Amino acid sequence: MIKKILVIHGPNLNLLGEREPGVYGNDGIEVLNSNIIDRAKKHGLECEIFQSNHEGAIIDKLHSARKEFDGVIINAGAYTHYSYAVRDAISAIKIPCIEVHISNVDARESFRANSVIAPVCKGSISGFGFGSYYLAIQALSEL
Ligand code: DQA
Repeated sequence: MIKKILVIHGPNLNLLGEREPGVYGNDGIEVLNSNIIDRAKKHGLECEIFQSNHEGAIIDKLHSARKEFDGVIINAGAYTHYSYAVRDAISAIKIPCIEVHISNVDARESFRANSVIAPVCKGSISGFGFGSYYLAIQALSEL
């Protein structure tokens, strides 16, 4: 049963609210994080949130998650499209991992349509704004 979840925000997501608001919206990461905590609570889940712009730090966090958490939600940002190292880290840990994207990655530049992490994730949610994270919380709570 899923009780404790980890949410990972990858590179450039610290700039939400400032970065391409037409694509990612006007609200900052603090608003997103407080909504994530609220949603997790509503589903009876304990939740930790981690953001890093560094591939190795994300990999280290995934490794440590395997003993501490029951599920992971990851927005790997641009690492989604080319980081075999992040993919291998997700694959190495046995806990379920859900890939999320704020924007609809299939409706943008062609390089964004390829996710190297999707095959090792339980599922992927893309294109619902911050709602992608909330849907992922619901999905994890129902696993
Ligand atoms: C993103 C989509 C990625 O292509 C991009 O590199 C990001 C954000 C999203 O949430 O829509 O940094 O993961």
